[in-house]
Amino acid sequence: MPVITTESVLKALSTVIEPDLHRDLVSLNMIKNVQVSGHHISFSVELTTPACPLKELIERDCRQALYRHFGDEVVVEITMTADVSRGNRLMETNVLPEVRNIVAVASGKGGVGKSTVAANLAVALAQTGARVGLVDTDIYGPSVPTMFGATEVRPRVNADRKIIPIEQYGVKLLSMGFLVDPDQAAIWRGPMVTSAVQQFIRDAEWGALDYLLLDLPPGTGDIQLTLVQTVPITGAVIVSTPQEVALADARRGVAMFQKVNVPVLGFVENMAYFTPPDLPDRKYYLFGEGGAKRLAAKMQVPLLGEIPIEQIVRESGDDGAPVVMSHPGSLSAAAFRYAAEETARVIAVLNAENGNEAPIFEIEA
Ligand SMILES: Nc1ncnc2c1ncn2[C@@H]1O[C@H](COP(=O)(O)OP(=O)(O)O)[C@@H](O)[C@H]1O
Ligand SMILES: [Mg+2]
Repeated sequence: MPVITTESVLKALSTVIEPDLHRDLVSLNMIKNVQVSGHHISFSVELTTPACPLKELIERDCRQALYRHFGDEVVVEITMTADVSRGNRLMETNVLPEVRNIVAVASGKGGVGKSTVAANLAVALAQTGARVGLVDTDIYGPSVPTMFGATEVRPRVNADRKIIPIEQYGVKLLSMGFLVDPDQAAIWRGPMVTSAVQQFIRDAEWGALDYLLLDLPPGTGDIQLTLVQTVPITGAVIVSTPQEVALADARRGVAMFQKVNVPVLGFVENMAYFTPPDLPDRKYYLFGEGGAKRLAAKMQVPLLGEIPIEQIVRESGDDGAPVVMSHPGSLSAAAFRYAAEETARVIAVLNAENGNEAPIFEIEA
């Protein structure tokens, strides 16, 4: 067997390609802490997100590259770690130096499950080990307090007069609902809402976060437009249901983000199909089939996931624990975890393309 050195290990690993970024792990600077002792090789692979769905594949490719290079007798010990990359817009500002990405969760209209998707994405990302925050900006219909079982909670303020987010299921939370009585919300005007939300984001003690999710108010009006222009958003996830009317609104959502050059990370189709619990192989497309997929293809936006309608999704929301927390083995929980991984993956690719303009989408009149 040839003498193994750090250099020869790196040479072998430079044949392993990161499937999303299409470059090798060594030139991407993802291989850390290589140690060689006789025929023992150990190192870390630093992924761009702990939610990486390709973790096992990359680990296996590394192992195989080393066996190919040095023979089957080598003992390989790999530690998979992650260091989430930072969004371009956050890099350009001094706002929130410890926050890596701000992700807007938006919808063209209310009732499509935007808050449910935001809550489950947040918890699913946190379950992978990511540091996650969630801001519920919907003053007229805040649902984060209910969905996280935190209706009685009031956030405290620290010595620097910064609001301290509450923490539930591994997610740091702030909601307009913590501060404003829903009956009083009607008197809030747009500018008051946007400045309150901006305070939530800038003047809260978030600490270090990989993903800060914003549950935007539904629609594409002035409040939404101001928010997406004044917050350094990495990208937006647009939630829709399969009906044509909802999809038309989703399209308007894409147009809004495009107008202000915020990248659209993709669509999540919620209530995409129904699978009766006693017929687990069936999928009934109650609201039509494949609508979001077609729209995604047409607008060249990724489809990040298709979430089934399940009674426990609603029940879990009402009972104060998102379904990925309360029923991790359910169909919908699996679909939410997939959507969370895809979102993290699209963000990682976008950030790697550093300096690129937001993708341009063709919008039909
Ligand atoms: N996939 C789903 N299956 C079943 N019920 C759902 C699903 N997604 C959302 N819901 C329910 O639909 C209602 C609206 O969802 P919500 O997240 O509050 O919508 P939005 O924030 O878009 O107004 C809630 O009662 C929620 O529990
Ligand atoms: Mg909502």
